[in-house]
Amino acid sequence: MTSATSLLGALADVGADRVRGGYSRHGFDRVDVELREWFTAEAGARGLGVETDRNGNLWAWWGAPGPNAVVTGSHLDSVPGGGAFDGPLGVVSALAAVDALRAQGFRPARPLAVVVFAEEEGGRFGVPCLGSRLLAGTLDADRARELKDPDGTTLAEAVRAAGLDPRWLGPEPDLLSLVGCFVELHVEQGRGLVDLDAPVGVASSILAHGRWRLTFHGEGNHAGATPLADRRDPMMPAASLVLAARRAAGSVPGARATVGRLVPTPGGTNVIPSTVDVWLDARAPGDADTRRVVDDVVAAAHEAAEAEGCTVTVREESYGDTVVFDSGLRDELAGVLGGVPALPTGAGHDAGVLAQRIPTAMLFVRNPTGVSHAPAEHAEAADCESGVSALARVLAHLAGS
Ligand code: GLV
Ligand code: MN
Ligand code: MN
Ligand code: MN
Repeated sequence: MTSATSLLGALADVGADRVRGGYSRHGFDRVDVELREWFTAEAGARGLGVETDRNGNLWAWWGAPGPNAVVTGSHLDSVPGGGAFDGPLGVVSALAAVDALRAQGFRPARPLAVVVFAEEEGGRFGVPCLGSRLLAGTLDADRARELKDPDGTTLAEAVRAAGLDPRWLGPEPDLLSLVGCFVELHVEQGRGLVDLDAPVGVASSILAHGRWRLTFHGEGNHAGATPLADRRDPMMPAASLVLAARRAAGSVPGARATVGRLVPTPGGTNVIPSTVDVWLDARAPGDADTRRVVDDVVAAAHEAAEAEGCTVTVREESYGDTVVFDSGLRDELAGVLGGVPALPTGAGHDAGVLAQRIPTAMLFVRNPTGVSHAPAEHAEAADCESGVSALARVLAHLAGS
């Protein structure tokens, strides 16, 4: 039998980022293909039948695919320089839970599947939960095919290079209709379970959240030869936007706004940029509050652009409203696990996408650092095993006779 940490150990070198630290694993890139091959081999070694759906999500079936299936899993991709657990912990825990159930002689009365969703972080093509959104039909396939990575490669090209046909991208109602419920195990991305002194919890809700790309257009010019009065420097309004984002979020209870990516073009030390792209990540407990934060930031961006003789264009790249997980399923899980705590999260998940269609729940595993999307993200081996044991009990309950 395998432990979650020994399975994770097999991935220790895959996609390790020697420049940023941590891991950089992005949808349909070379590393992702290696991770997919690894998963396919691990699932195959367990006698699970692996299928790739039209959107590049992997499904490993215990028994024949069929209706009312109990599905668990997560993702293998990461943010740039991400931690080892966000995503992979849910996948390896699912495999380890299958091993534990097999060792107990358990035979599922309902089909059971382990799924790996593609490009959950949106680290390459900008739209998070790409695979699950396409599957559920909440992302337009034509728009998706045209999404570009930072090198200008389209999703259609990347998918083809990974051996899939981009014409297939799109909703799969027949596959989704087989899923009776979905349970995603994930490392916690805050200190909730540390504060509660609990190794495992269940999720109650996810913040409304989205991504906006603001492009400031100015005039590229020489850093030494251009007097300050003659400049139309798009970095000035970009800098104002960063400060406006903190201010706007600070005025709405529970809101968060982040600028984690800012790209000046052409990007030379001695060049006034001609354009600056700024990505805004905004989240709040509700749709109206999230929109309010974004509206405030956009208004500030327009004002600052005008003051510098620049213009700004704004594009919503993704959005998801607040998710409240199915309370019946959550209570069922908490009951099976003997009353574990329920806690909200500010992080997005494929489970949030599926929750719009089918009863969905999440299990969180304690993260002693409380840090995520960074190399310091952690989960102790003993807590990972508590997570596997909790997931195995949940799956046995849901898929048992
Ligand atoms: C993904 O994990 C996100 O919440 O952005
Ligand atoms: Mn993440
Ligand atoms: Mn994740
Ligand atoms: Mn996520």
